[in-house]
Amino acid sequence: MRELLDILPPGSREYELARTLDPERLPAHVGIIMDGNGRWARRRSLPRVAGHRAGVEPVRMAVETCARLGIPSLTLYAFSAENWKRPRTEVETLWRLLHYYLGREVARLMQNNIRLRAIGRIHALPAEVRRQLEDAVRATSGNTGLILNLAINYSGRAEIVDAVNAIIEEARRSGTLGSLVLDEEQISSRLATSGQPDVDLLIRTSGEMRISNFLLWQIAYAELYVTPTLWPDFDRVALLEAMAAFQKRDRRFGGIHPAGNAPVEQSSLIGARGLPAQ
Ligand code: IPE
Ligand code: IPE
Ligand code: MG
Repeated sequence: MRELLDILPPGSREYELARTLDPERLPAHVGIIMDGNGRWARRRSLPRVAGHRAGVEPVRMAVETCARLGIPSLTLYAFSAENWKRPRTEVETLWRLLHYYLGREVARLMQNNIRLRAIGRIHALPAEVRRQLEDAVRATSGNTGLILNLAINYSGRAEIVDAVNAIIEEARRSGTLGSLVLDEEQISSRLATSGQPDVDLLIRTSGEMRISNFLLWQIAYAELYVTPTLWPDFDRVALLEAMAAFQKRDRRFGGIHPAGNAPVEQSSLIGARGLPAQ
């Protein structure tokens, strides 16, 4: 938190917003569906790709802000498995932008102690971009700060299917397939985000009220924040507003509030009421 305040002009809206945040109650994992680049461009009578280009700066801002806030994980939805349906020229521009971003940003990721990870079926990416991405992941793997997951050619369903298949394959090899029974922990530990906390705050820009196959498992209890702001216009104030809104949410996880109602052990509750155990 201090690290963020250090770079903000005192008295500015972003400084004041950052100051109101409770450093103890920041989300442990933020997911962002970065949407609205095409509409941003269309409103300016520009080609869609101009919107994608304008979307690079908010990526930098979000990464740096989360790192300086001390947030452990940030996942950015950069390209969905469904985005291959777009015109080839648009898809190629997206790969060129990723190439440009990685070329320029790895040094900054190192400076900011950020670990880059790629989630999604990246083997399908153009070979050069894939190699560059893998190099960047390797170069930053020893860092200890923010984990930045870039979701590229990502599908939440495919991620779960891959996790389950990996468990089955392992059981087959060890001869335990016949007695295999899956549990949530096993699946979580095989996801691309293994070891990271579940998403606490899911932000979607451009006003669309849908998940679009993003992090289906990890958002089970995420707070959803949808803003009409288009991604290229999503600035630090907008991100800090999302954090402030998150801190006002009453997160019950199926329990009840206020906190005065201490959670009751399920087994003792069942016992006290004489209900049969499940
Ligand atoms: C998000 O912006 C970027 C990607 C999906 C790669 P869009 O390109 O989806 O922009 P809209 O939704 O058409 O405005
Ligand atoms: C979701 O945005 C994918 C990314 C932001 C990368 P889309 O624009 O592809 O989603 P839909 O088609 O509106 O659901
Ligand atoms: Mg879109």
